[in-house]
Amino acid sequence: MAIWNLGSINIDHVYRLDSLPNPGETLASRSYSEGLGGKGANQSVAAARAGSATHHLGAMGTGGEWALDRLRDAGVDVAGVAHLPDQATGHAIILLDAMAENAIVIHPGANWAIPEDGVASALDAMGHSDTLLLQNETNAQVAAACKARENGARVIYSAAPFDIDAVRAILPHADILAMNEHEAAQLFAAEPGDLPVAGLLITKGAAGAEYRDLRSGQTHAQPSFPVTPVDTTGAGDTFAGFFAAALDQGDDIPAALRLAAAAAALQVTRQGAGDAIPTRAEVDAFLNR
Ligand code: RIB
Repeated sequence: MAIWNLGSINIDHVYRLDSLPNPGETLASRSYSEGLGGKGANQSVAAARAGSATHHLGAMGTGGEWALDRLRDAGVDVAGVAHLPDQATGHAIILLDAMAENAIVIHPGANWAIPEDGVASALDAMGHSDTLLLQNETNAQVAAACKARENGARVIYSAAPFDIDAVRAILPHADILAMNEHEAAQLFAAEPGDLPVAGLLITKGAAGAEYRDLRSGQTHAQPSFPVTPVDTTGAGDTFAGFFAAALDQGDDIPAALRLAAAAAALQVTRQGAGDAIPTRAEVDAFLNR
């Protein structure tokens, strides 16, 4: 049992504003901060903090070495992170408004230059009870999914940022597709027929989440835990990482949904993305409060 995550590592530059700018508008931010981000890194931190052995596969370019220290501090194995001196480390410009909503621009940099042979050889060590996480912020997604499937492992793909061509390419090689409700709406519009995956994990912010078991036809609904959010960046990643870790540790779907919803609820009460992800002990205390 282990989580392998081919995922982006970003330096998040976060600017707090009263409202998001309109086209052509210039606004002064109320504050600026820097933190660990990237949908991949966030999911790795979440999985590790949830208690699963977690191996991150990806790449760093120049700058932001501290991001790897943050991953290590969270308990993530970063031996599979390549160092690419001719690339910039991935980064994100995050605009955050007074309602805790955001708009994000990413510069992929090294996240799109991950050496495929390194990923393939790292995944040789995968076992059939392991899980591969993927998101749409790196190259090598399909090759990694195929390799994981060859090893009999579970593949969970987060369709974010949403791109229908990327989803179509991965669909035959994925077990679970994770999306927010907006991404799900785009997928269902583009692919109205049956999807060749075992299940869909759909997060809906304050409206909770659901898991649709496409084999049995059963839908498991999970309400959100009421909290006052200060920053929703990375909430979906926290949900996906905790959900995957719970399945990895043998939980059933309802238990995994409940744990992941609690983790995401706690995460949005803190500022930042990867740095705001709670530990398993914090999530258990929140559930038992
Ligand atoms: O999902 C949130 C993440 O999206 C941020 O941390 C940012 O880096 C972008 O990848």
